[in-house]
Amino acid sequence: MENAQLIVEPSGKLSGTVELIGAKNAVLVIMASLILTTGKSKLTNVPYSHDVLQMIKLLESLGADIFFDVHERVLEVDTTDLNRWHVCPEIMKKMRASILVMGPLLARFAKANIALPGGCLIGARPIDLHLKNFKKMGAEIIQDRDSFSVTLRTLASGTYVLEYPSVGATENILMASVLAPGQTKVVNAALEPEVMDLICVLSKMGAKIKTIAPATIIVEGVTELRPVEHAIMPDRLEAGALLLAAAITGGEINMPQARADTMDVFLLKLQEMGHHIQVGENQQGIMLRATQEPQAVSFKTGPYPGFPTDLQAPMMALQTVAQGTSVIEETVFENRMLHVRELQKMGAYIQVQASKAMVTGVDELFGTSVIASDIRGSCALVLAGLVANGATVMTGVAHFKRAYDHLEQKLAFLGASIKLVGEDASPVMHSYRTKQRREEMRS
Ligand code: EPZ
Repeated sequence: MENAQLIVEPSGKLSGTVELIGAKNAVLVIMASLILTTGKSKLTNVPYSHDVLQMIKLLESLGADIFFDVHERVLEVDTTDLNRWHVCPEIMKKMRASILVMGPLLARFAKANIALPGGCLIGARPIDLHLKNFKKMGAEIIQDRDSFSVTLRTLASGTYVLEYPSVGATENILMASVLAPGQTKVVNAALEPEVMDLICVLSKMGAKIKTIAPATIIVEGVTELRPVEHAIMPDRLEAGALLLAAAITGGEINMPQARADTMDVFLLKLQEMGHHIQVGENQQGIMLRATQEPQAVSFKTGPYPGFPTDLQAPMMALQTVAQGTSVIEETVFENRMLHVRELQKMGAYIQVQASKAMVTGVDELFGTSVIASDIRGSCALVLAGLVANGATVMTGVAHFKRAYDHLEQKLAFLGASIKLVGEDASPVMHSYRTKQRREEMRS
């Protein structure tokens, strides 16, 4: 993968109708939640991405049996023989989502041996909010450098107040509490659409969960949870990337599966730029027709329903060639401007002061060699490449492959001149079966 390159050439107006794959930030936590059940669950609309393959490896390391029909994007997870609660550091370090097995492991085994998770270098990304609340729940945590040995004396229900609406901490506490006797409240919880998709799955398993204003989740503990079938929610971040690709090239796009009610502020900002947006019945389906004279807009990221931090970098790419100046403030992660340097190499005029970027639109960008350092930054560089003069050659493709399911093919279908070249360590699989892999490893 390290030799792979994404080559983007100046592309005409992108246009067409595309489907959306399941949300990365929903499928990973939902896969982790299956640890709470014993038996075979089935997930559909599962993205064929590197992070999903990593989560498969993690669950297999605990004893789960997996069948992934890649062609159909259907994942079957059998947790009957899942009997381990130790996750090796090498697997933990592959992505941030690894930390999300902690709550389910504690609920199932009252024990978890884990390590600090990996993830994009967009900030320190500590796990103090996770650990602090697990201690309150009754966990004894012994830390040895990056590793944690966690034992649960009791699984105490109660009220857990988050000083910041952390998505991962909300999800971990929630998954630990669904089997805790009594009532658990999570106050100042994250209620991102992906958290709501997790709540939908937990409820299908038999958990008793409701949400009340302001941002509170209430759980009545149950004694057992059952396997589920679930279609992963469409990815609002893929939808955002595709809308921005049509917008930056002056084209138009139709996405019947996009849920406009999961991206209100983002859509508002596109409209303020002058782009025409139509939303289907019941907020289902989004169509964008780009303006030919986009106006720069300012925005500030924040917890849902604010402007999503995961669309900050891709939206910044649009501002680099809009008319006027945009002030972009990143409030969620302290180091999420790594894409600025690369956009400047392409001719963008951006000044950064602490967590703010001042972007003044230029008449043209120039294709050059650029390096992606995180998932959403890689998307920003691809978008800029669509309108840059000359070829943009992006390395750091592994970041792009972690979160997107062949997005480059969707962009090409819409008319983009984009191709993945060089060695691609993950050859396209048609299906994947743990049992088959274990036999191959034994032979
Ligand atoms: C999830 O990360 C997403 N990842 C991120 O998406 C997303 O950007 C983020 O939520 C915010 O929406 C997955 O769901 C796998 P947080 P998470 O806990 O849970 C601080 C992408 O590109 N914090 O809400 O790690 C933290 O450092 C990725 O798809 C603590 O200080 O996000 C950050 O500044 C990137 N202590 C802020 O809170 C903690 O214990 C938000 O983090 C936990 C978090």
